Amino acid sequence: MQHPHFIDADGSFTLDRPEEISQLYFPLASEAGLKSCVSPDLGGDAKLDQETFLLEPVSVENLHNNRSTRNFWLVGADGTALSLTGASAAQQAVKFTPAQDDSRLTAGFMWHTLERTLKAAGVRAVLTSFVPVGDNVEVLSVTVENITDSTLTFTSYGAVPLYGRSADNLRDHRNVTSMLHRIRTTVHGVRVCPTMSFDERGHRPNQKVYYLLGYGADGQAPAAFYPTVEEFIGEGGSFTHPRAVLENYPGVPAGACRAGREAMGAFRFAPLTLAPGASARYILLLGVEESDEAIDRLFVRYDTAAKVDDALAETRRYWKEKVNVAFATGDADGDRLMKWVCFQPYLRRLFGCSFLPHHDYGRGGRGWRDLWQDCLSLLLMEPGPVGRMIEANFGGVRVDGTNATIIGAGDGNFIADRNGIARVWMDHALWPQMTTQLYLDQTGDLALLDRKAPYFKDPQAMRGNGIDEAWAPEQGSWQRTEAGEVYRGTLLEHLLLQQLTAFYDVGEHNLYRLRGADWNDALDMAADRGESVAFTCAYAGNLRTLAALLRQLDGRSPGGKAELMEELTVLLRPGQDYDDRAGKRALLGQYLERCRHTLSGRTVRVPLTDLADDLEKRADWLTGHLRRQEWIDGGEEGWFNSYYDNDGQPVEGFFPAGVRMMLTGQVFAVMGGVADEEQVRRIVRSADHYLYRPEIGGYRLNTDFGELKFNLGRMFGFAYGEKENGAVFSHMTVMYANALYRRGFAREGWKALKTLADAALHFETSRIYPGIPEYFSTDGRGVYHYLTGAASWFMLTMITQAFGVRGEAGDLLLAPQLTAEQFDETGTAELRLTFAGRPLTVRYHNAARKEAGSYRLGEVRCGDTAVTPGADGTVKLPRALVEQLPAEGGLITAELV
Ligand code: G1P
Repeated sequence: MQHPHFIDADGSFTLDRPEEISQLYFPLASEAGLKSCVSPDLGGDAKLDQETFLLEPVSVENLHNNRSTRNFWLVGADGTALSLTGASAAQQAVKFTPAQDDSRLTAGFMWHTLERTLKAAGVRAVLTSFVPVGDNVEVLSVTVENITDSTLTFTSYGAVPLYGRSADNLRDHRNVTSMLHRIRTTVHGVRVCPTMSFDERGHRPNQKVYYLLGYGADGQAPAAFYPTVEEFIGEGGSFTHPRAVLENYPGVPAGACRAGREAMGAFRFAPLTLAPGASARYILLLGVEESDEAIDRLFVRYDTAAKVDDALAETRRYWKEKVNVAFATGDADGDRLMKWVCFQPYLRRLFGCSFLPHHDYGRGGRGWRDLWQDCLSLLLMEPGPVGRMIEANFGGVRVDGTNATIIGAGDGNFIADRNGIARVWMDHALWPQMTTQLYLDQTGDLALLDRKAPYFKDPQAMRGNGIDEAWAPEQGSWQRTEAGEVYRGTLLEHLLLQQLTAFYDVGEHNLYRLRGADWNDALDMAADRGESVAFTCAYAGNLRTLAALLRQLDGRSPGGKAELMEELTVLLRPGQDYDDRAGKRALLGQYLERCRHTLSGRTVRVPLTDLADDLEKRADWLTGHLRRQEWIDGGEEGWFNSYYDNDGQPVEGFFPAGVRMMLTGQVFAVMGGVADEEQVRRIVRSADHYLYRPEIGGYRLNTDFGELKFNLGRMFGFAYGEKENGAVFSHMTVMYANALYRRGFAREGWKALKTLADAALHFETSRIYPGIPEYFSTDGRGVYHYLTGAASWFMLTMITQAFGVRGEAGDLLLAPQLTAEQFDETGTAELRLTFAGRPLTVRYHNAARKEAGSYRLGEVRCGDTAVTPGADGTVKLPRALVEQLPAEGGLITAELV
């Protein structure tokens, strides 16, 4: 089978005959808002948001029906019509036979080039699609070259159906909404401006103009237009057999109008004569703007082939520079895969979790969890704005420790949830701390914790168990005091409040309740009695790191105090008995009742060391409790139970029908320091025994429970091996690796990452372009490609754990855990990244190819300065030293001995 080949160090690749593989799609987008995807025959959709789809929305299941395909047709002198994208009935009829045309895809960040040799026509075509950096336009550049010895004549057609409305109208009044269309042909194309946005809750007038423009290399306009689907495909025709093209329909001139029909961006160019070896260029622009004038202005920016070529070069340069992390190890393909992994967080930020063909759910936007995890990769690639983003995001926390879940565009824009009782995801309070910790480590900007932010306010109160009847929208979405002032607390207070309130929200086994779900969104049917052992472990880890942070703050100014809202003292009362479940819930109830509507506005000052002691006590108690109660002993093996179901029963262990094991509990027991070292060893053995399937990416999320389990969640309704039910789910696998590295289990961590990366690159099974998919399905196909939190974590783990290049209170720590196989034949492994505003190359040299754990740092040089490593074999380079390196880039070398 054909498979992708990398062609440069930035991860650009080629793939022959990509149209022979199903479900392939490639993302193209700009920060201005246009989000497109293209399949190998240029199918796939384009949109700004849920309400504004330029092309008909596609799921992966209709990628192969060629409806929304961008097409370009050539009709030869003998009347034979050929599609340059291969999307014609005649060409599809000979697909997989020797008569089919040769084709090749070449692609890199935000550009996609399809080459096709049309044997019958004697033509080579090159079609490049891209979305320029700052505009909402998709550009399709078409080159047609005569590869015969004789002069050829053609008639050419551009053809793209313009859907022009909300994705909701796919089923909701599809036909009725076409009646809103007002279509015009202009000198260069077809524009459609629907009269209104159709929504029975309230129709709104529409200004948006959807368009397709087409022209020759120097702006030559088309000769005739086919502005409706009916006129283009003809009676009984189809998009792959359009009668206008096949039967040479005359079309209409510029200036024609149509109303109330499905719009078609289609036109015919003047006849083309090509001498042997000669070529011609056409440009298609498709997009959506707020007005006709905006389209005219945009057109001027791209109205010649030369301008388009400049824009393409600029787009390629822009995204190449954005992805400013590079790995050079003994595995060149793996390094190039990592380029795509580092690019994926940008895609996730642009596309959210909804706008690629597998991701046919949601209405756009990102969730709370994604918001914080996206900051992880940003911190490594573009740390500048992250401090402000973190500050703005903390404004989404409610005083009850839950948070806003409806997130608007832009930072810190949270929207009140006026529905009945809101769903609470019990893991949500975990991520802000993890991200903040990384920020503090990388930047040393401890002052961030003293900055103040408001709390989010809407009718949701009592951690999703009650409504604040006294709240009215006029009071606004910020928490107020009794005096009516907006209350602002430090970010440290926000963090403490999230961790403390969660600590008391416990179920029958004195573990954090599962509530609406945790990280695993599909554990959504155990809201009453379910408990998440997995995330109780994670929170135990958080309490410990927060305590360490408090000590660090105290170290900077000994005897320091934290200013906290007075209400929190309810939860900080000394002498609490953590074994007393009922007592804990009662305390929480008191606290929640006190801040159901307003806060007193009074604050108290608590010594940082007292707070640290308090949090450590809680972490120790949780650790002991979890170890005693949740460990499943399997002799040489063993692992932690991860959940209690809605009948209050543990879900894992040795059951008559077989072993039930889930990965999530293990990840956080290891990461949160709940598992002791021997337990980590046993967990690894058990995971290898029950969950490891290298041929499909490595560690599955769970074993097959063989039961629907309506008392736990929808995941058990999925076929085993799909999505959250036992797939190799990249995000959790990568977090497993991260956890293992953090505990010094480098080879085990690398095994998890490497297996995942190898499976992604093994095209014969994965059938995806380079990158890490959300998960691998039972047959090893990578699905839900590109948009996954796994990418941020993969990159984070490679940089901060495998290469061990990470901040520690702003200084640069080198603590490599690379395995012997990760060094190249010269014993070198290299990482390029930006730290303290300096582009750095960190080069390790492992002359003896020693294994992780058996080497330590020998000679270290930061630029010209020699630095002596510590006794533990790692080194900390003071930030000031790194800042002395040249602005254009510095080199840090370290010998491993
Ligand atoms: C997706 C969601 C993520 C959720 C996970 C498990 O993962 O985006 O928020 O926690 O499913 O249900 P992702 O695609 O980011 O890997």
